Amino acid sequence: MILVVGGAGYIGSHLVKELVEKEDVVVLDNLSTGHREAVDKRAIFVKGDLGNEDDLQMVFRSYPIKAVMHFAAYSLVGESVIDPLKYYENNVASTLTLLKVMIKFKVKNFIFSSTAATYGIPDVELIDEESKTAPINPYGHSKLMVEQMLADFSKSYGLNYVVLRYFNAAGAHQSAAIGESHDPETHLIPIILQQLLGTREKISVFGSDYDTADGTCIRDYIHVTDLAQAHILALEALLSGEKSTETYNLGNGLGYSVKEVIETCERVTGIKANVEMAERRAGDPARLVASSQKIYTELGWKAERSLEKIIADAWNWHQNQLY
Ligand code: UFG
Repeated sequence: MILVVGGAGYIGSHLVKELVEKEDVVVLDNLSTGHREAVDKRAIFVKGDLGNEDDLQMVFRSYPIKAVMHFAAYSLVGESVIDPLKYYENNVASTLTLLKVMIKFKVKNFIFSSTAATYGIPDVELIDEESKTAPINPYGHSKLMVEQMLADFSKSYGLNYVVLRYFNAAGAHQSAAIGESHDPETHLIPIILQQLLGTREKISVFGSDYDTADGTCIRDYIHVTDLAQAHILALEALLSGEKSTETYNLGNGLGYSVKEVIETCERVTGIKANVEMAERRAGDPARLVASSQKIYTELGWKAERSLEKIIADAWNWHQNQLY
């Protein structure tokens, strides 16, 4: 059985939908930002807190867990600057509690959701796993601290792990049964689609004087189902003993500017957006684009879904949003 912590959240719920096809799954989520309705009915659901050792012990005592996948983190860069305590408490301290209980119960396999924010402001066009890690905000620091703990725990306690550093997760499940629903929403694609649906007055483009072709920030958008599939491959590699301590970037190697994303949304939906140019948002690097060559070479994974597909699936979800 696989324990998915944070399996009711955006990325976790998409992973669970794929994983239940292959494995028995138990989801632990405190529903602070996740949605109970997003959890596939084939998974066992336990409402509980990652930072609560009793909740964790109960889960590990009740189910024969062979691996843990950890999605239960706060992930807003801006919020992490305003309230770093929240980030270190949940993303670092609670993860430490989870690892402690795993070690106690001799569960040795761990898949960790990390982030492009560990790289800070990169000085390369395509970021690979050897690129320097130098976070510029508490969110990125919190994720990198856990990566460091994993490396140390691997040496001392024989923990096997795969760290997956996501770039910009986006899109929704093809069925439109689950999708991205944050409150408040801060991510670009949902914000654009909300404006096109008429539930938001305008889209503010945060900065148009960056050192990029059109002056707006470039990001590497990756379909959430592609992300989910990378987790399945990483899990298989861990369980088969093929991998024990690896870090992989997950992106599609293509950068799109904020303006290009807005134009693609207009094209996919056939609706014109109401856009205003605004000030830069603190902490935004001009360009973040991944090289995912390593995971392609080693596990055969690459992103299959285009920006158009990401937006089309997200649009289907937003038009019939269920939660
Ligand atoms: N943007 C706008 N207007 C908006 C919202 C976003 O112009 O209303 C811009 C941002 O400035 C940025 C781009 O759109 O240039 C993408 O912004 P998102 O908020 O969608 O995503 P981020 O790149 O800020 O964040 C993502 C992940 C984080 C991760 C970060 C790494 O969501 O978890 O990448 O830098 F930490």
